[in-house]
Amino acid sequence: MNNNKSKYLIGIETSCDETAASVISFSEKGESFQVLSNVISSQIEIHKKYGGVVPEVAAREHVLNILPVIDEALKTAKISYSNLEAIAVTSGPGLVTSLISGIETAKSLAYAWKKPMISINHIEGHIFANFINNDAKINLPAIILTVSGGHTILLKMGKNKKIKIIGETRDDAAGEAYDKAAKMLGLGYPGGPIISQYAAKYVENVGETNLEKKKTIKLPRPMINSSDFDFSFSGLKTALLYEIKKDKAWKKHIEEYCHEYQQAIIDILIKKTIKAAISHKVHTIMLSGGVSANKELREQMAKSIAESFSGKIDFFVPELKYTTDNAAMIAAAAFFKLRQGKTLDFSKVKANPSSELK
Ligand code: KG4
Ligand code: ZN
Repeated sequence: MNNNKSKYLIGIETSCDETAASVISFSEKGESFQVLSNVISSQIEIHKKYGGVVPEVAAREHVLNILPVIDEALKTAKISYSNLEAIAVTSGPGLVTSLISGIETAKSLAYAWKKPMISINHIEGHIFANFINNDAKINLPAIILTVSGGHTILLKMGKNKKIKIIGETRDDAAGEAYDKAAKMLGLGYPGGPIISQYAAKYVENVGETNLEKKKTIKLPRPMINSSDFDFSFSGLKTALLYEIKKDKAWKKHIEEYCHEYQQAIIDILIKKTIKAAISHKVHTIMLSGGVSANKELREQMAKSIAESFSGKIDFFVPELKYTTDNAAMIAAAAFFKLRQGKTLDFSKVKANPSSELK
């Protein structure tokens, strides 16, 4: 693709604890795009010892890492900054000090390199991760479930790719529910991958076919049958806390607790997503966000969609590397904005930590 007819843009993401940059290329006519580099410098190992992200530490790490990460993204893509059409950056939501590290760097580069900028909402980025390598195959309208550390949102994307939120969490996000439970059980950070490993070990030990028979722990599924498309996960976390307080030997059953806790989250997410797809008569269901890296969620969602719609509704979920925070998703969202001419002068780009989807 690296020929004269190709155009390029770079995406930059620093909203939380990953410093990331990605270059994508697209044809002159702009019909499709391709990821050329996807560089991520993760701070997970640093924040692990504090049991969560420490904003000041995250911002300092972003400042140290951002220029080498951008440099590597350009080098891997085998282009120079002069080839870029635009510089896209996450402007929110996220931790303000983290956002500012990426935004101020991107603005300085846009000024020095004389490039226009594109401001991207982080959640929009997660959503557009689904379009990487799948753009031509996605049949809109779609229901999209975005599940991350900070958000749990059900939205509808219309044929023109316009997004409308139809439901969201009233308290904790699904990823936050994983993270808080892992902290409670003394399992570390981030909670999603650890809880899912313990849950998988439980299934391996008990056997898939014996799960119901051997069940000793039952947690609630808050709001699973509510008439709206909203979610609530804080009651589930409290229910887990009460259960382990009652159970003196809870440490011996930690794998079963993780399994039941994860299954409660998955049951709620699947039920609401299927209900939204029926009610909004869509052609496609998509998953996105860090929690969509979860193997059980991906597999059980695919199975439920196949059973509920007999192949009439398509299902997409981003490749694993595009589920948790990355900059390819920011570049992907920027590709569609560039096509609509939505570029900005560097002076207009600002951090908006509580930015909402529009
Ligand atoms: O999208 P993301 O990387 O960052 C935010 O925008 O928040 O999502 C991070 C969240 C964390 O809460 C983490 O525990 C969760 O995604 N997560 C997972 C898995 N991998 C990451 N949750 C469940 N299963 C996983 N495999
Ligand atoms: Zn995210």
